[in-house]
Amino acid sequence: MNYSPLRSSATAAQSAQIIDLSANQASVYEALTYPHFAPLLHSLAENANVVAVGAEVEGVPVGLAIACLNRPDDAMPRQGQVLSLFVTPDHRNRGLGRLLLTHLETELGDRGCQQLEIRYLSSPQSPALERILVQQQWFAPQATALVCYASTDRVRQAPPPHLVDYLGRWLDRLPAHYQFFLWTELTPAERTDLEQRMQGDGLMQRFNPFLDADRLEPLNSLGLHCDNRIIGWVITYRIAADTIRYTQMYVDPASQPLSRSTLLLAKAIQLQVEQLPHTKGTFRVDIDNTPMVRFVHRRLKPYLDEVRTAYCAIKILQ
Ligand SMILES: CC(C)(COP(=O)(O)OP(=O)(O)OC[C@H]1O[C@@H](n2cnc3c(N)ncnc32)[C@H](O)[C@@H]1OP(=O)(O)O)[C@@H](O)C(=O)NCCC(=O)NCCS
Repeated sequence: MNYSPLRSSATAAQSAQIIDLSANQASVYEALTYPHFAPLLHSLAENANVVAVGAEVEGVPVGLAIACLNRPDDAMPRQGQVLSLFVTPDHRNRGLGRLLLTHLETELGDRGCQQLEIRYLSSPQSPALERILVQQQWFAPQATALVCYASTDRVRQAPPPHLVDYLGRWLDRLPAHYQFFLWTELTPAERTDLEQRMQGDGLMQRFNPFLDADRLEPLNSLGLHCDNRIIGWVITYRIAADTIRYTQMYVDPASQPLSRSTLLLAKAIQLQVEQLPHTKGTFRVDIDNTPMVRFVHRRLKPYLDEVRTAYCAIKILQ
C-alpha cells in the first residue's frame, strides 16, 4: 500500500491513502466507475495492461482512476489511455483527483508508457479536470466532436417551424427520382455494388453503413435512391431500450450533400417521433465536419436537450 500525503489545507482529506489496486479490491471500488469498466478491475491480477489506483479516506473508497496500456509492440510506442477518473462529490476539491492522476502517470511511466491520453465529454466537472491537466503539464485538450442528445418529447414540443414542417417543405421539393427506402430492404446486389464503390472512396468508408450490422435499428435506418442508385443513408442503432443512436450519415457530395443528408436525418427522426414516443436519440458529429457542426448549431439546437463537446488531451510521459 502506498501513502501519499495530501495538501495541508485539506484537513478532512489528510488521512487519504492512494493505493495501487489489485483484483481483491475490485468489488469495493467498482461503484466508482461505469459498469462496463468493472470487468477490467476484476482482471487486474492477470492483465498487466490495466492499472487502477484508488483513494481511501478512513478505509472508505472515495476515488478511483483506471488506465489501460496498448500491448507491448516494438513497432509502436507504448501508449496509455485514462479510462476513468472519479472522486465522490463530498471529497472533491481536496486534491484527490490530482493525486490519483499523478499516481497513475507514475505507475504507467514505470511500465514503459510514453504517451498518455484522456478523452472526456464536457460537463460541470470539466473545469476541475482541466485545472488538474494544466497543473500536471498535459497539452491543452482539443475538441474532437459534438455529442448531441434529444428526446421525442422535445422534438414534438419544439416551437415552430418544427421538424415535421421542415421535413414537409423538403419533401415537397424532392424530385420524384429521389426515394427513401428502409435499409433492411437493401438487396444483396445493392450491397455488393456499394461495397465496390466504397473501396475507392474514403468518404464512403468513413461513413461505412455496414459496421455493427447486428445492432442496426430497423425502424429508421434509411437509404436514399436517386434513379435507383443509392446515394445516401442514415444508419441508426438501438443502444438502450429507450435510446437510438444516429450513427452513420452520408450523402454523395455530387448530390448536394447537406440538403439531402439533413433530409435523411429529418425523415429518420420523424419515424422515431411518430413510432417510438417518449424515447431518446443521440448522435455525434466530428468537429472537422464543418457543415454538419454549423447545421447542428443553426438548425438542430431547438430540438436538442443537450449538446456536449468531446475532448481529447495527451501528455508525453518520457
Ligand atoms: C474531475 C474530478 C475527478 C476532480 O476531482 P477532485 O478531487 O475534485 O480534483 P482536485 O481537488 O485534485 O483538483 C480540482 C481542481 O479544480 C479546481 N476546480 C474545481 N472546480 C472548478 C471550477 N468550476 N472551475 C475551475 N477550477 C475548478 C479546484 O480548485 C482544484 O484546483 P486547485 O488544486 O488549484 O485548488 C471530479 O470532479 C470528478 O470525479 N468528476 C466526475 C467524473 C469526471 O468528470 N471525470 C473526468 C473525466 S474521466
